Parts: sequence; C-alpha cells; structure tokens
Amino acid sequence: MRMPYEGPKVYRRDELTYNRYLKVEELLKLQQLQSDPPHHDELLFIIIHQAYELWFKQIIHEMESCIRAMLAHKVLPAYRRLTRINKILQLLVNQIHILETMAPIDFLQFREKLNPASGFQSIQFREVEFLAGLGNEKLMGIFQNWPEYREALQKRLDGPTLRSAYYEVMRAYKYRIPEDVEGEASREQILDALRELYQHPNHKLPIYFLSEALIEFDEYLVLWRQHHVLVVERVIGGHRKGTGGSAGVKYLESTTSKRAFPLLWEARSYLTKEPQWEGEDL
Ligand code: HEM
Repeated sequence: MRMPYEGPKVYRRDELTYNRYLKVEELLKLQQLQSDPPHHDELLFIIIHQAYELWFKQIIHEMESCIRAMLAHKVLPAYRRLTRINKILQLLVNQIHILETMAPIDFLQFREKLNPASGFQSIQFREVEFLAGLGNEKLMGIFQNWPEYREALQKRLDGPTLRSAYYEVMRAYKYRIPEDVEGEASREQILDALRELYQHPNHKLPIYFLSEALIEFDEYLVLWRQHHVLVVERVIGGHRKGTGGSAGVKYLESTTSKRAFPLLWEARSYLTKEPQWEGEDL
C-alpha cells in the first residue's frame, strides 16, 4: 500500500520549481524600507500596499475582459468576470483593517520618510476607477511628469468602460437606451429602461443578474472607500493633511459618494410593489 507521503521528491536544479515560476526570490526583494534604523511596522505598510497593487492588476485584467464580453453581448462571461472581481474586492475591503494593528504613534515614527508619496498616486487605482466609468481628467493632473501614466489613463478615458459596455448590452437586449447617454432626457429614458428591468426581473434574467453584479461592484468600491477613510482617521486622525497634499479625511469622505452606476441605484426608488416575481408563487 502506498503511503500518503513518501518523502520529498528531489528536483533537479534545471527543472521548473515553485520558487522560480513565481519569482519568489525577486518578489521578496521588493520590500525596501525607507526608515533607518528599520521601523518594525514599515514592512507591513509596504506589503499591504503591494498586495493591493497586485490585486488591482488582476481586477484590471478582469475588467478589460468583462468589457470585451459585454461589447460582444456575451452576458455569461461578463457576469463570471464580475463575480470574480467582486470576490476580490470583498477581500480588499477587509484587508485594509490589518493596518489598525499599527499604533498611531508607530506610524508617526516613519510617516515623514514616505512624504510626499501617497495612495493618491496609485495609477492602477485610477485605472480601476476610469475603467468603471469614473474617469475624470482632473485626476490626471498629478501625473504631469509621467506621460506614460497620462497616456494609460487617457486610453481608459477614451475607451469603453463597464458603464458604456453595460448600456451596449442593454441595447442588445432591446432596452431603449439612447446612443448619447448624457443629458436629462437620456437620464429619464435610461431610468425607464432600468425600472422596466427591475420591475420584471424574470423577463430578461441574464441582464438582471448582470446588473446586480455591477451594482455590487459599485457597492464594494464605496465600501473600500469607507473602510479606508475610517482606518485613515483611526491612524492619523481627522485633522491631519495627507502626504499627497489633500485635506486627508475630509477629502477622502468626499469621494465616498462616487458611483459608477448612479442610475442603477436611483431606479430602485421608483419601483412599485406590483407586479412581483412571476413564477415565485409555486
Ligand atoms: C495607515 C494607512 C493609510 C493612511 C494613513 C492613508 C492615508 C491616505 C490619505 C490621507 C489619502 C488622501 C490623499 C493624500 O493627501 O495623501 C489617501 C488616499 C489614497 N489611499 Fe491611502 N492611506 C493608508 C492606506 C492605504 C492602503 C493600504 C491603500 C491601498 C492601496 C491606500 C490607497 C489609497 C488610494 C488609492 C488613495 C486615493 C483615493 C482617492 O483619491 O480617491 N491607502 N490615503
């Protein structure tokens, strides 16, 4: 009888290994502290940000694919991408709280060494926002000396977004979404379409599930902002300016009202209780 574990397999040095495949050696060299002598908590501070950036990379990869799927009117792959993104975001909302194990006086020991670096400069976070439909030319200003970043963001600004691609799917499913989605008249038309969808979820169930996945994405992004601002207030307080030069907590609080799908949120206010789910009275 074979034993469950018969001792280690001996690998040749020229074979592909876990460490080589994942570039673990290189990865573990990327945490370079600014504090000298090294402050105990700075390693956590670097690792948590790097972990976020890795996940942002994955989210951007999934968002691009999700947008392509929606533009091709393929609802199932788009929905599957979104469910993955949402699971990652769920993790990211919780991950920020690890930083609360750092005492405010500990952070103060090395905070000035990071100045003027700030999460404000996270190019990938902006890409996530822009890809969602929250593009804003003003936010590109801080990258004045990084033409490659401006170019990357401009591409997102000009290209399709989760929001524009969603409207495209809605059109394909015969909802009356105007070509030009800006302006008051268009807003009313889109709200009518969304009311129709939400009043009769069973009529076009795939679109209903897709819409719910999109509002969940929006919700997690807001939750991340809310959790981040609470952690910031807990660690540096509500009156301290950010290393990026903003008002700190006050600025971050102002971002928590951002919505990539404002009409998906708004449509709910106009639903009536009749008719209900068809086929649910079994
Ligand atoms: C103790 C921990 C943290 C503190 C005190 C902190 C503080 C701040 C402050 C004050 C800002 C406003 C911009 C500024 O003036 O600097 C900001 C923005 C930002 N931070 Fe953090 N942060 C922390 C952790 C994190 C982590 C772990 C991430 C993960 C990526 C992150 C990502 C961001 C992003 C993306 C922004 C820009 C938000 C926006 O403009 O909407 N922060 N942070």
